[in-house]
Formats: sequence, structure tokens, C-alpha cells
Amino acid sequence: MARYNSLRRAWVVMAASLLASPLAGAQPGYDVPYVPTPPVVVEEMLRLADVGPGDFVIDLGSGDGRILIAAAKKFGARGVGVDLDPERIDESVYGAQLAGVSDRVEFQRQDLFKFDIGQATVVTMYLLPSVNIRLRPRLLRELKPGTRIVSHDFDMQDWQPDRKSTVRKNVFLWIVPAQVGGRWRATVALPAGERSYEIEIKQKFQEIDGFVRYDKKTAGLWNVKLSGDRINFVIVDDTGPVETNLYFDGRVSGDAIEGVIKRGIGSDQKEIKWRAARIAPAS
Ligand SMILES: C[S@@+](CC[C@H](N)C(=O)[O-])C[C@H]1O[C@@H](n2cnc3c(N)ncnc32)[C@H](O)[C@@H]1O
Repeated sequence: MARYNSLRRAWVVMAASLLASPLAGAQPGYDVPYVPTPPVVVEEMLRLADVGPGDFVIDLGSGDGRILIAAAKKFGARGVGVDLDPERIDESVYGAQLAGVSDRVEFQRQDLFKFDIGQATVVTMYLLPSVNIRLRPRLLRELKPGTRIVSHDFDMQDWQPDRKSTVRKNVFLWIVPAQVGGRWRATVALPAGERSYEIEIKQKFQEIDGFVRYDKKTAGLWNVKLSGDRINFVIVDDTGPVETNLYFDGRVSGDAIEGVIKRGIGSDQKEIKWRAARIAPAS
């Protein structure tokens, strides 16, 4: 019964007991109490993150290892679970053996705030709001663009999730965005001749917006979208006899973007390659 209490309730109880007595209920040195995620929520976390055999999953505060063991057993993923509690680590190692996935997962007794998360393609967490917020700068800085983060129950304040599930409990998914803020120069070979666009992008997490300058004009960027390292937007090309939409699709890699523009629609559609270089960082 206690195993399926919500973390929120455990936290309230722990906070109340802490107020009553600074020692009662406290686990010195731990940032989060142990409360396991119910199996149906584990399933929903892994489904939402679209975990597959190519993934490397890191579970921060891995408890008895159930999330990682399910990721390996049901989806063929590999990964590492990190927990401070040696008892939990022993349970996880045993659980992985029982599930026949010891060759794909390992469990390390470490502090999640010090653990190197750079190789993850998926990060799973059932922590606390304050812990999520402490982790947030590292998640944004150290994870590769496109890495999925799933959190059971707790959000990341003004970093809005890309997707959310409400099956029994809230589960949030974020896709780590590439850093695209700043000014970019894009060169495109249009039928009317080569055109240079100066594109200004403002970014807040995965939410982006911007405008474009060319021929001493300023125009809007439309349908602007960033998902991981993939950027999409539309510029209306008014250089020909009729206005035509240019559908930009690109991959961001550091200070460069490369991709394809689709010009026009249907049988008239042409594909043109484009590339851009960042010429000024985000202000
Ligand atoms: C709420 S439980 C989640 C367990 C598991 N991820 C799950 O969802 O079933 C949080 C876990 O974080 C661990 N923990 C707390 N502080 C930690 C820290 N600083 N570093 C690593 N693990 C920590 C606790 O021992 C506990 O097992």
C-alpha cells in the first residue's frame, strides 16, 4: 500500500514530520524520498518518450530500477540507473537479473547531481519540483538536442512540456532544443538568382519566433517550429511575378544549419538546398 502512495503525499508527510522534528522521517543526504512509480505510469513514461532499441536511458534516482528494467525488457533499450541508496542498487541489480537484461543495464551508486548525463538519449525522472528546477540548466546544457526527458508528476515551471499524458498521474515530456537564438545568414539559389537572407531568431526553450531581412525589407517568418535540432519556418518569396512560399526545413549543428527548402506545391514543387551560419549570438 505504502509502495503506491504518491510521491507528493510522501513529500507532504515528510515535510510535516520535518516540521514536527528535524530528524524524524529525514534521509540525511538524500534529495528525494523513495517512492516507486506504479507500473502503469512506467509504461506511460516509456510510451510517451517513444523509447526504442537505439536508446540509452538514464534514470536519475532510479529506486528499484523498474523504469530502466522495463525500458530494456520491453523496448530493447540500454542504460544506467543512478541512486544514492545501496539497498535500491542491490534490488535493481537483482531485478535486472530476474528480467534477463543485465547485459543492457547497469546501476551505479552515485549522486544524480554529479552524474555525467551527456550520453543519454532519454532521461527519466521521478524527483521533486525543486530538484527538477535545480537540474534544468544541466539538462539544457549537457544533453544533446533531441534528447527526450520524461518526468513523473512534476513539471519544469516555465519550460513547457512538448507532450503530456494524464493516465493516472501527470507525465511530462520535453525534447531538448538546439540553441538557435541569434542572427543567421542564409544563402539560397532561387530561380531569380542567389538570395541572401538575414534571419533573426528569438528563443525561449523550444519556443522560437523571428523575422527575416533581405533587399532592405523586413518580413515575417511563418509557422516557426523547433523540435530538438530540427527547425522549420516559411518565408514568402516575393521576388518573382507571383508570391511563392518557401518551406524551410533544416538541422541545427552548433553555429550552422543545413537543409532543404521546398518551393511551391504539388507538381510545381522544387527542392533547393540551403545552409546558414550564425553571425551574431542571441542578445
Ligand atoms: C521517488 S524515487 C523514484 C524511484 C524510481 N525512479 C521510480 O520512479 O520508481 C527517488 C529516488 O531518488 C533517490 N535519490 C534521492 N536523492 C538522490 C541523489 N541526490 N542522487 C541519487 N539518487 C537520489 C532515492 O534514493 C529514491 O530511490
